[in-house]
Amino acid sequence: MQMKSPFHSNVLSGRVAVITGGGSGIGFGIAQELARHGARIVITGRRKQFLADAVKILTDEGFQASYLAGDVRKFDNCESVVNFAVSKYGSLDILVCSHAGNFLAPAETLSSNGFRTVIDIDTVGVFNICRAAFAPLKKSQGSIIHISATLQIGASWYQIHASAAKAAIDSITRSLALEWGSYGIRVNGIAPGAVNDTPGLQKLTLGMSAEKVNKMLGPLTPLGRICTKFDIAMVIIFLCSAGGAFLTGETILMDGGAWLAGPAPFPRDVAIKMSRSVESKSRQMGAQSKM
Ligand code: COA
Repeated sequence: MQMKSPFHSNVLSGRVAVITGGGSGIGFGIAQELARHGARIVITGRRKQFLADAVKILTDEGFQASYLAGDVRKFDNCESVVNFAVSKYGSLDILVCSHAGNFLAPAETLSSNGFRTVIDIDTVGVFNICRAAFAPLKKSQGSIIHISATLQIGASWYQIHASAAKAAIDSITRSLALEWGSYGIRVNGIAPGAVNDTPGLQKLTLGMSAEKVNKMLGPLTPLGRICTKFDIAMVIIFLCSAGGAFLTGETILMDGGAWLAGPAPFPRDVAIKMSRSVESKSRQMGAQSKM
């Protein structure tokens, strides 16, 4: 069921947003919702065809959207994307870092280059695009949002590379918020758990369908389902709106409460009944010992 946005459709009117990894998955879901709320969109990523297809969907819906292919590992590519957005639409107000590289690999089988590749894409890529966007974001008093993950809270099986990369991104969120707050730039993050219906999750669940993944992982969260791209986009709109004006350096953990604990060890009616009977037994024993 598609939920309805709680925001006015013009809440981001006049703003220009760059979304890295915007050609597919979470990044495209974010681009779509930012456009539906008034922003003009520039998406970037490595795969030109994905970007072209994504922009066509947006322009067919009547939105202003463009793309420039690039690799966030290369600083000059990041500068080109930022310059492209500013020359095309006149400013840069919102930067969403939604690019990522990941795969499952037990640590003892992962090569040094495999580890470095993911750190380069995720972490160095985030620094590169933020650094390249500094001047226009300072001018617009803009907002940066990093999409990290929950892998790095505790530890995650077979993702030593991505867990390390995401922990570093959360750290970059805080450091940039500290250093760039006085320039009027706010920097926040969203740390989603599994996000359904994305190529990334498909890859990590070895090709399971979105429905199957929700059935498997949904019951493990207090809210009974896993995150959607729409859930993430709504929080980003909030962060970029006046509602988020005093928030910076914060990474919002967004996994439906899954991190709090696992499923209940027994049903609540069993807990109530057993607990009452244990209490009444201990009261009886207390009364007997006083006799
Ligand atoms: N298991 C173990 N190692 C792997 C791997 C896997 N599934 N996939 C790639 N690697 C290793 C490679 O073997 C290579 O190391 P080596 O030189 O020691 O052999 C290293 O990672 C770089 O791989 P390469 O394919 O050259 O990198 P790339 O820059 O072309 O691709 C990836 C980057 C690997 C992250 C690729 O999967 C990718 O671009 N994915 C698209 C985005 C994505 O994954 N999104 C998921 C978000 S959750």
